[in-house]
Amino acid sequence: MKKIVVISLLWLTACAPKPTAVTEDKGLKDYYRSYFPVGVAVSSAALERADERALILREFNSLTPENAMKMGPIHPAPDRYYWTEADKIAAFAREHHLKLRGHTLCWHNQAPDWFFIDEKGKTVSKEVLLARLKEHITTVVNRYKGTIYAWDVVNEAISDKPDEYLRPSLFYQICGEEYIEKAFEYAHAADPKALLFYNDYNEISPVKRKKIHRLVKGLLDKGIPIHGIGLQAHWAVNEPDNTQLQQTLQELGSLGLPLQITELDVSVYPKEHNARDRKQEDNDTRFSTEREQKQRDLYTQAFRQFRGMGKQLTSVTFWNISDRHSWLDDFPVKNRKDYPLLFDTTLKRKAVYGEVAGFRK
Ligand code: GLA
Repeated sequence: MKKIVVISLLWLTACAPKPTAVTEDKGLKDYYRSYFPVGVAVSSAALERADERALILREFNSLTPENAMKMGPIHPAPDRYYWTEADKIAAFAREHHLKLRGHTLCWHNQAPDWFFIDEKGKTVSKEVLLARLKEHITTVVNRYKGTIYAWDVVNEAISDKPDEYLRPSLFYQICGEEYIEKAFEYAHAADPKALLFYNDYNEISPVKRKKIHRLVKGLLDKGIPIHGIGLQAHWAVNEPDNTQLQQTLQELGSLGLPLQITELDVSVYPKEHNARDRKQEDNDTRFSTEREQKQRDLYTQAFRQFRGMGKQLTSVTFWNISDRHSWLDDFPVKNRKDYPLLFDTTLKRKAVYGEVAGFRK
């Protein structure tokens, strides 16, 4: 009898889901090997700093250039491309067999002023702007053909105003909606093998999400080459909740295209969408137990849902490496320290790492 009990207990223990043992020699890329590649946004300088470089190689198997391939940095003047930074990142990815996402071919922000004006400073015509866009996209995509497997082709074309569909950027004002289609067509012509993404933020808002769905559906209906939706996922401890995230993944996934989480971070402060001055209430910037716990819960839930997406979720990328430095240290509040990532300011794994990597199978 005793023997049977012992055997049953052993059997039950063997069958119960076990947390993955998190060890120093493995990283996120290993724990998630059968789910999706895990990436990180980098500068070329980070790849040259020994400690960050080692962390990247241990934890990640995909990279995104944080700034180096944006329109302004890479194409600062009509006849001048600045390849140095982007080339270093591409070379690093090739050397270490990491995937590389390209970011981004057409974005209203960090676009160079010259793009929209002629020599006299007058706004260019639609024809000229599209010709410039074509030249830009063709040149950049061609250079990294075979290294970059996926491009964020158009970034943030949708308006944040509830009653406005597309953002009235200069691209939109000059070309109308067509610039979006054209950008995808130019990218596809330059590299037919690259996977082309539409990428946007605040995808968890039901209003914005509907617009993303509408845009992507419209492109698909017209036969425009678009292969996936990028959810930036700049989140915060108070959003999204589980249901909101579930609905987001469901609705955007309903078009049948692959989804990628492209810019993940979880601010420890409640979400604010617009930049503002620092106030007295912002002075407590400690990574308190309460903040840590909330962040841990959100990351744990989010990765549980990511794992549940099956093959439709094809990548998860963090925006920045560690809490040593994040763009959120200066946004929305200038000079307010944030702790949005899985590694602390000394690059050590935070407690939340154990939840994300050590999940029960
Ligand atoms: C957006 C862009 C990124 C980056 C972040 C802030 O999400 O897509 O390239 O600029 O804002 O760092």
